[in-house]
Amino acid sequence: MNNLPDFPWDKLEPHKRRALEHPDGIVDLSVGTPVDPVPQVVQEALVKAADSPGYPLTHGTRELREAAAGWLARRHGVSVGEQAVLPLIGSKEFVAWLPTYLGAEHVALPELAYPTYDVGARLAGAKASATDGLVALGPEPVDLVWVNSPSNPTGRVLPAEHLRKVVEWARERGAIVASDECYIELGWEAEPISILHPDVCGGSHEGLLAVHSLSKRSNLAGYRAGFVTGDPALVKRLLEIRKHGGMIMPAPVQAAMAAALADDAHAEEQRERYSARRAVLRPALEKAGWTIEHSEAGLYFWASNGKDCWTQVAELAEIGILAAPGDFYGAAGSSHIRIAVTATDERISAAVRRLQ
Ligand SMILES: Cc1ncc(COP(=O)(O)O)c(C=O)c1O
Repeated sequence: MNNLPDFPWDKLEPHKRRALEHPDGIVDLSVGTPVDPVPQVVQEALVKAADSPGYPLTHGTRELREAAAGWLARRHGVSVGEQAVLPLIGSKEFVAWLPTYLGAEHVALPELAYPTYDVGARLAGAKASATDGLVALGPEPVDLVWVNSPSNPTGRVLPAEHLRKVVEWARERGAIVASDECYIELGWEAEPISILHPDVCGGSHEGLLAVHSLSKRSNLAGYRAGFVTGDPALVKRLLEIRKHGGMIMPAPVQAAMAAALADDAHAEEQRERYSARRAVLRPALEKAGWTIEHSEAGLYFWASNGKDCWTQVAELAEIGILAAPGDFYGAAGSSHIRIAVTATDERISAAVRRLQ
C-alpha cells in the first residue's frame, strides 16, 4: 500500500483557503466536478427503479447494454455487441484496477495524464512508463497501453492516424490498448474518434478496450456510472473477475444510465452550457496573460503564463480563483495550470470580472 503517492489535492489546500478569503467567494476551477442538474429523464428512471430488492447482474441489464451499444453506434460510428458491454461503478475504479485484472507487469501511459493510470500500475505492482512516444520504450515488453483522447489535462485530441499507429504497435507486441474516452462527446475545435472506430482499428476490436463515463456527458458523477467495451473475449474475462469481486453497479443506477445513454437532447444541452462558459473564460484568461495550449476538446483549459505552475496557482488564488497545478499530471506540466469550465455561469462570470 505504501507505494501510493500522497493524495495530490491535499497540496492545494493552502491556496484554496486563500481563494476562499475573497469577499465574493471562491471560484473553484480546480477539480472539474459537474455542477449542473442531473437530467430529468435520468432522475425519473432512477426513481422508477428505486424498488430494487434483489441482487443486480454484474453484466448489467440487457436494456443497459443495448443502450450503450446503441449510443456508440449512433454517436460514434462504433459497432459492438451488447454482450461486449460491461458496466462500471464510474470509470475511475476500472482505471485503477485494470492492470491488476490483467496481471500487468509493465504499463505505458501518457506523459501528461490523469494520475489514476499511474496509481493503477502501482496497485498492480507493475512498472509504469509515462511516454508519448511508444518507440522510446524499446524492446521491453509492455502489457497495457493507456491512451486518453480528448486528454485530461491538456484537452488534446489524437487523430485517427496517431491512434492507428498505437494499435499497430501494441498488436505487434501483444499489448492491450485501453482507451479512456470519457470526454469523447466534448469536442470543440476537433472531432474525437474512438479507438474502436473502423478507421482506427481496421474493424477488429482484438486487444482493444474503450472506457466510457457518464459523469461529464450526463452530469452523473454522483451516480457513478460508466462502462467498458471492446474485445469480446477480454470483456468476458473482465466480467468473470468482476463477478467474483462483487463489482456490481446498483440496479437503480443501471436504469438511470440506460435512460441517459438513450437520450441525446440533455447531452446537447450540457455541451452548450460548457461551450458558452469556454467562450467567455478563454478570452479573459488570454487578456490576463495566459496562453492556452491544445484544449480543443474536453472540460479544461491547459494554460501557462510562463511561470512555475504553483506561482500561477498562487496568483489566481489571490483573486479568489482556484486552478490545478500542471505538475499534478506529470513533471512535463510544471509550467502549466489546468482550468476547468465546470462552474456555474454565475461563478464563471465572477472569474471573468476578476481577471480584468
Ligand atoms: C481522464 C479521466 N478518466 C477517468 C475519470 C473518472 O471519471 P468517473 O470515475 O467519474 O467515470 C476522469 C475524471 O475526471 C478523467 O478525467
